[in-house]
Amino acid sequence: MTPRPVKISAVGTHVPERIVTNDELSLTLDTSDEWISTRSGIRERRIAADGEAASDLGAIAAARALEAASVRPKDLDLIIVASLSPDMLFPPTASFISGRIGADGTPAFDLSAACTGFIYALATGSSFIASGQAEKVLVVGAEVVSKMIDWTDRGTAVLFGDGAGAVVLEVAESSDEGILGFDLGNDPSGAGLLKLPAGGSREPATIETVESRRHSIRMNGGEVFKFATRIIVSSCREVLVQQGCRIEDVDLFVPHQANIRIIDTAARKLGIAPEKVFSNLERYGNTSCASIPLCLDEAAAAGKIGQGELVLMVGFGAGLSWGSCLVRTGGLKRIEE
Ligand code: ACO
Repeated sequence: MTPRPVKISAVGTHVPERIVTNDELSLTLDTSDEWISTRSGIRERRIAADGEAASDLGAIAAARALEAASVRPKDLDLIIVASLSPDMLFPPTASFISGRIGADGTPAFDLSAACTGFIYALATGSSFIASGQAEKVLVVGAEVVSKMIDWTDRGTAVLFGDGAGAVVLEVAESSDEGILGFDLGNDPSGAGLLKLPAGGSREPATIETVESRRHSIRMNGGEVFKFATRIIVSSCREVLVQQGCRIEDVDLFVPHQANIRIIDTAARKLGIAPEKVFSNLERYGNTSCASIPLCLDEAAAAGKIGQGELVLMVGFGAGLSWGSCLVRTGGLKRIEE
């Protein structure tokens, strides 16, 4: 059977109300706006309220994407939620989101691939449609990373933020439009470089794991930085070659938003013109699985995702994992605020 073409038809997002600036972080951490903004490009981030979980943000983003796509929740064939900060280890956050949007009966599962999760979820969802197993798929990236942070560790606390983004996948009208291809990968030798050590079956929760803050993100920032700048370049080249496209053909480059120096270095090595690089890191920090859909939504609002344009997305993260995706857009629907 010939695979069916798949398009990303609509996007929706939601971020928590509370804005935390670098200056506010400097009140409790030995850091400064100057250090954070020059080393990472981040100026502020959104932080969820007490009691607010990934599904609370994800459900609002999902409802907005469905409304923009004019798809009723009951018409969905699959819901995939990518998150490194799920509501609970189980049941899946996808189940909570499904309940909130009224998609009872629809298969719903979580996908764990750290910050690459959104691209992996896109690849999974589009395969269901391409193979004829689904007509309409909802992919959500939802994160409340702030609750996985050691707020005394300045090396990680300043980098992350909370938010959610969702897209609707549908059958594309023609094979010239929609998702063209993916490059996905994982390097298990780097699994120790970025992790949340305790709370799983390897290190179940004890008083000691709580006291030694092993329920928070631990990261070797320098090594992750080197990996990211290398893998973004090789993965993007791979997906472009696979689809017979050149870097000059790309109209919009949407990388995972972790550090502006990673984005600038990778874009320079790839030879992408700065005006084609999308970034909103300054206002949100690293929102993990939500970062790419948050960018897609803002890029669409700014008129940067027009009919026939070539969009290159790339994610990377713990695993160490990576994924890039090339899309020939037919436009991207969103709800105007
Ligand atoms: N404020 C002030 N000083 C700081 C801070 C801070 N917030 N954080 C670290 N420092 C200090 C360090 O202690 C060090 O001091 P020293 O020289 O006295 O030892 C100095 O600043 C330099 O530290 P470096 O780690 O060398 O700083 P660098 O320029 O490499 O930036 C950073 C660190 C921002 C973490 C960078 O390495 C990075 O962004 N790495 C990638 C991280 C990333 O992308 N992670 C997410 C991946 S996606 C996922 O799956 C979650």
